[in-house]
Formats: sequence, structure tokens, C-alpha cells
Amino acid sequence: MSLIKETEKYITKVIKEFGFEIDNVVLEPSSRRDLGEAQINVCMSLAKKYGKNPRELANLIVSKFDDRFTNVNIAGPGFINVSFNEKYLLPYLNKSINDFDRLVDKQEEKTIIVDYGGANAAKALHVGHMRTANIGEALKRLARILGNKVIGDVHLGDLGRQSGMVISEIKKRKPNLCYFDPDYKGEYPKLEITKEELAEYYPTASKDAKENPERMEEVRQITAWVDEGKEPYISMWKDIVEVSCEVIKKTYDYLNCDFDLWEGELSSLKYIKPTLKILEPYMYESEGAKVIDVKKEDDKVDIPPLIVIKNDGASIYATRDLATIYNRITTYNPDEIWYVVDVRQGLYFEQVFRASYKSELVRPDVKLAHYWNGTMNGKDGKPFKTRDGGVLELNDLLSQVREELSKKLNKYESEEEKNNILDILTVATVKYADLLPFRTTDYIFDIEKFCSFEGKTGPYILYTMVRIKSILNKANVNTCEIKSIYGDTEKDIYIKILELSRILDKAYSEKTLSYICEYLFELCSLFNKFYSECNILNENDIDKKSTYIALLKLLYNTCEKLLDVLAIRIPKKM
Ligand code: ARG
Repeated sequence: MSLIKETEKYITKVIKEFGFEIDNVVLEPSSRRDLGEAQINVCMSLAKKYGKNPRELANLIVSKFDDRFTNVNIAGPGFINVSFNEKYLLPYLNKSINDFDRLVDKQEEKTIIVDYGGANAAKALHVGHMRTANIGEALKRLARILGNKVIGDVHLGDLGRQSGMVISEIKKRKPNLCYFDPDYKGEYPKLEITKEELAEYYPTASKDAKENPERMEEVRQITAWVDEGKEPYISMWKDIVEVSCEVIKKTYDYLNCDFDLWEGELSSLKYIKPTLKILEPYMYESEGAKVIDVKKEDDKVDIPPLIVIKNDGASIYATRDLATIYNRITTYNPDEIWYVVDVRQGLYFEQVFRASYKSELVRPDVKLAHYWNGTMNGKDGKPFKTRDGGVLELNDLLSQVREELSKKLNKYESEEEKNNILDILTVATVKYADLLPFRTTDYIFDIEKFCSFEGKTGPYILYTMVRIKSILNKANVNTCEIKSIYGDTEKDIYIKILELSRILDKAYSEKTLSYICEYLFELCSLFNKFYSECNILNENDIDKKSTYIALLKLLYNTCEKLLDVLAIRIPKKM
């Protein structure tokens, strides 16, 4: 348990022993550091509840405090200020140097499925796919370090118009392949298609189909075959998806996004039948389609019925999401399913969730939640586009960032080393920029600002980390210990570290990584201040030097864990 949590429990106990009823007391970081390191603000509300004088109440409470605090004082109407007794603080910090879990308060373990990424097969990942990948990956890791069992699923968009597009393009270019011969009798072979062909086929077909209604009709027909799982197109399509996944996986690997499951719309098809059986009593026919009403009396906006089956009898996006839910519930029995998906699918998920609860596809105690994200915009404030107004591919954006960073990098020994550092730095740059704004806030992609080595940026954080590591390497000591607190900046660092558990709890409850990004920046800035004030390596006092090294280790290890939550790696050099 974290020191703060333990202390809060202690204070709560002291207050309860006076016979007062109270929820868990919160120990806030002090806003007046001259008065103390932490603040207890409950006396005012407690005094009101029991008709007492708040200052007298505060006096009564502090009279019972043991020696875990020093400098206990009461300010204003009844704020209690305390500082931590080093006798307890230092052993706790020393134990935390190599044991991050001591700084964290674990939760009651839950099984959580995180649905994020959402790449569409046969199409390139575009910039809009980045934020859901980054946020989803980090939320998954955050939930894990807090003690949950978490399963990440990419939920591929591997059904839909793109199947018809790609297959129709293959048909156009290679009409003699056996798949297109109606008289073919043998077994269909595995489709040979290269990544390069795949990259070219979808955009070409899509452009042609837009201009040519006959082509569009063909695309529609093929898509319908695939959706119904009919041969030979379904097998062709599965082979195409396989190649496409290799391409998609490369980009996700680059971004340190690592999915436990590569399920998607295609793999959900086999669960449609049992799902529809559950939904059947709640569906009715409307204009040939089958729908479920999901309106509620207190709705402020009109929530239209959810279409489950189209008027031609085919399944759609929603059918597959419902079937996926069926599979997730029956296979993993999760407590929660999180959808980290763009804001534009908000109404859709609301409909799907309501239909799931209404039909009892999902028990009421299972939480379905859409944790949507704001968009990354260009300098004009509109969704990021290429110069000619097209959708920017994610890999192109990453190359642009890499290019910008390479102008600034000059300390490296070989091309290989340079490439390695640049890759790590590129990912850190985009991730930090992506995760720093509150999850639901839109932000403007400003490549120069994000690549800067100053300010709230990935490069600044990593540069600081590399600097700390280099001091630790030079110091080359095995044993070190925080023996005392010698200066104010050191104390500020320790107090900041104590805040960690609260930061993680806040990030988790609001499902945003922004608090962690801000916190990392604060820790790094404090270190840089400390570094400018202290000559760490040349310190002659052995105790001081040992303390400084221990402090750096604590700081480094803590930040390293937090960066790992954000899925940001640290280069060896920079
Ligand atoms: N493939 C979808 C898209 O690009 C996102 C999938 C989100 N997840 C889900 N279970 N529907 O819009």
C-alpha cells in the first residue's frame, strides 16, 4: 500500500475513534508548502455536520496523532498541515527504489477486455487510427499495473466494402485465376498476393468504382458473397486479410501496441446464429429490416432503433459487434468491456450497449463502456489531411516526425544506432503528444513543437531519462540509500513521488493518460532543477552522494514504469 493511502487510513481511524462517522479522509498535497507537505481538509465539513467549531475539532484530532508527522499545525478555519517524519518516510522511499508496487495502490482484480486499434483490413492505417491505438494500449497497461486482468483485442474491420473492392480488382487484373472460373471443380488454392499489390488494389478499385456504377455493382455483389461466408470469395478474402494483417501488425509493433487477440468482424461471423437467438424476442420488422428499440423514457435526444439485420437479410457492423460481445462474454466472462473508439461512433455504441442489456445478452453487472477520444487536427483545426486534401496514412505521419527529429540528432556512433534512437524517439514524440491532452480533447498536430527537446514533449522526457541513466552509469555504485533530506528540491521530488498513487487512480478513474504525462513532465523538470543545483558525481560527502544516487534511481525507476504504461521505450543514448 502507498504511504499516502496508509496515512489516510490512519487519520480516518483517529477521527472515527472520536465517534465521528466519516468516509476515507483525503490527504492532499499542500498548497502552502511553508506550512507543511500535506493537508487535511475534513474539519470544516465534519464540524458543520456535528455542530462543532472546526478549529477546536482540528486541535482535538491532531492531539491524538502519533509521531508519523512532524510540524503539525492548523491554519485558517481548520486546515491541518502536516509534514512526514523522516523516520518513516525514508525507509518507505528506500524500499520503493526497486519496488514500484509499493508506490501503487492495487485494485480489486477485474477481468477487462479492451477493444482498441480497430484497423480495417486491406486498407492502410490512417492518422485517425493512431489515437485509439495509443490510448487503448496505455489504458490496458494502466489497468494491468493496478492489478486487473486485461485482454486487448484489435477488433479488425475485416468485413465490408473493401473485400469487394480488392477481389474485384484481382478479377480485373488476373481474370484467368481459377476463382473466377464458374466451371472450376477442384479445390481452391491459397491466393497469392503481395503486400505491394494489396496496397495498390484497394485505392485503385475504390476510385474506379466511384466513377463507374457497373464496377460498383460488381463490388457490391462480391461483398455480399463474402459477408455471407460464400466460397470461393470468402477463402480468397481470408488469404487477403492474412497478408493485410502482417502489414498492419508492423505499424502496431512500431507503436509498441501489442494485442492479445486479433479478432474482428470476420471471426465474429460464427457467433451470429447463437446471438440472434438471444436477440430474437426483442427484434421486430421495420421496412424489411430487423431492429431493436433502444429508446428510454428519459432520453433527451432521440435514440433510433438499432438495425440488427438489413432488409436483404445480411448482417452488418452492429450484428458483428453483438456477436463479438456474445463471444467475449461466453469465453472470458469479463467484468468490463471498454471500447476505445473515435467519438463519431458514440451513438452507435449507445445503441449496441442498450440492445445488449435489454436482450440480456449482457448481464446488468457487466460494464460496457465507450471511452471515446478527441481527434488529432491539422493547423486549420480540421481533421489532419495531406496537402492535397486526402487522408494521411499513419506511416507517412510517422516518417514526417522521424525526418524532423533526424535533423536534431547528432550524437550517435553508427547509422544503426541512429536509426534505433530515431525509431524510439519518433514513437515517444507522437505518443506523448497524443496522450498529453485530456482523452476527449481535440488537439492540433504541431510537428515542430512536438519534436522539440524543451517543454512538454516526448523528446524532453527521454532526454532527461537518458541523462539520469548516464549519471547512474558513471556513478557505478551498487549500494545506495536515501540517508537524509539535504535540500528543498530533493524534498519536492520525494513529495511528488508520494503523489504517484493518486495520479494513477485519477488517470484510471477518468480513463485519461494526461495526468501521467503531466506528472512525468513535473518529475523530469524537478530532476533538471536538482541537477543544476547539485554536483551529483563530484559530491565528496559519502552519505550525500549515496543519497543522491538513490534519489536518481528512485526517480528513474518510477519514470521508467510510467513510460512503460504509455508504451514509450527509452533509448540507451541520445
Ligand atoms: N474498424 C472500425 C473503424 O475503423 C473500428 C472498430 C471499433 N471497434 C468495434 N468493436 N466496433 O471505424
